Amino acid sequence: MSVDNESDLQKLFYESSTNDNVFTVSTTVDTGFEWQAVDECKEKINKNVKFVKERGRIFFNVSWTEFAQIQEMRSIDNIFIVADVRQFVFTETSKETDLQLFKDAVQNSIKLEKCLNAWKRITGFQGKIYPTAEEYSLVEKDCKLSNILTTAVTFKGRKRGQDPSDAKDDEILRYRVTCERTGKHTFESGDVARTIGGELQDKYLWLVDLSTYYLEIVCKLINSELITHLRVTHESKHRRNIMCFGPTTLRATVCYNLLRLAQPRPGDIIIDPMCGGGSIPIEAALVYPQAYIIAGDNHPKAVVRAKSNIDASATKCKIDMMNWSVSQLPFKDSYVDIVVTDMPFGKRSGRMVDNRILYKQFLIELGRILKLSTGRSVLLTYDRRSCNMALQMAGDLYRVTKMLGVNIGGLQAAVYVLKRTDVLWDQFKPKAIKHVKHTNN
Ligand SMILES: C[S@@+](CC[C@H](N)C(=O)[O-])C[C@H]1O[C@@H](n2cnc3c(N)ncnc32)[C@H](O)[C@@H]1O
Repeated sequence: MSVDNESDLQKLFYESSTNDNVFTVSTTVDTGFEWQAVDECKEKINKNVKFVKERGRIFFNVSWTEFAQIQEMRSIDNIFIVADVRQFVFTETSKETDLQLFKDAVQNSIKLEKCLNAWKRITGFQGKIYPTAEEYSLVEKDCKLSNILTTAVTFKGRKRGQDPSDAKDDEILRYRVTCERTGKHTFESGDVARTIGGELQDKYLWLVDLSTYYLEIVCKLINSELITHLRVTHESKHRRNIMCFGPTTLRATVCYNLLRLAQPRPGDIIIDPMCGGGSIPIEAALVYPQAYIIAGDNHPKAVVRAKSNIDASATKCKIDMMNWSVSQLPFKDSYVDIVVTDMPFGKRSGRMVDNRILYKQFLIELGRILKLSTGRSVLLTYDRRSCNMALQMAGDLYRVTKMLGVNIGGLQAAVYVLKRTDVLWDQFKPKAIKHVKHTNN
């Protein structure tokens, strides 16, 4: 295949494959926040990092010594080493012939060794990745039996397979192959996983284990391009902070990305006025220890849950927690640097306060407490309509500097990044008071 026909990812991978010290890494990102992940990557790893951005994923090349910094990144969720990228020319008529192409590729051209060795070092896997035929045949039968017994168990848990660092030094690598497929093919995703998995077993003498595997090989087939990934993260990174989950708990990765959009600086006062279980303030306190974090919610149960999460987290008492309503926040005018919050959606039970009213009340109060000219706010909402109406009503109190369409747990949501203008709140007050009087209950 000529270089011109290569995808950007193939070009990126080619660069890493020609240098023993360079690896192509793939990381998943909450859809819509890909640029935040690229920015974090440039900031934490290398400002000249070469990357390819796709929906919900970024790929980048790193040297071996930069691997530890990837683990420090907070905008990304799962980490993989890209072990191979290649294009296939399928017949599109014969399943058998098309699957044979994968067999040939595994046996003759896909070279996993460099990435396997890196995976072993990164994950701390102590077992054998190149067992002998004798070692393999000794344990093969036992493994088949235990596979049947354990399959149902691990899928219920949130961890993926078994922690590779738990492996004993005489254990043979247990693995599974999965396939994610996009496009029209003569075969199903399961056929790809079985074919590649079978060939890998013949080649390396590993033990197939669908549930308690140490290594997951994820094959992503997009039309004619196959990307072979080795999973590095045993547990998704978004689960890092929260102990008591609620119905709308945000992933820590999303919280980080929202906070990042506000560009916090040391000494900033950051508040989350509708904090639910406290996921945003906890991430804020961990990442920006030199900021002053205040959080609150009007629901007593949310306040209790947030307190439990704060107590269970490494941040402990570094967050002030309040019970308040966003229509009346206990701050003097022009006091807060940053407000980052995840707004409620749907009708609230009990008081039946509609979003349209709540959002307007909130944006008026936000205009009062945010510092003139420098105050920033990042709002996550599933209800764009109410937010747009509230912003219209708030007029020139804010400038919308950015708007992102994001996907949160399968739902389309929007992120608004606002900058407080220098318009005095008092000048706006007559309109606000009239509105609040009209809707207050
Ligand atoms: C989408 S949830 C926030 C979830 C949170 N980010 C988390 O991860 O747990 C919205 C929160 O806004 C709170 N809320 C609704 N109306 C409010 C008001 N008037 N004042 C303060 N909080 C309010 C709700 O109690 C709810 O906890």
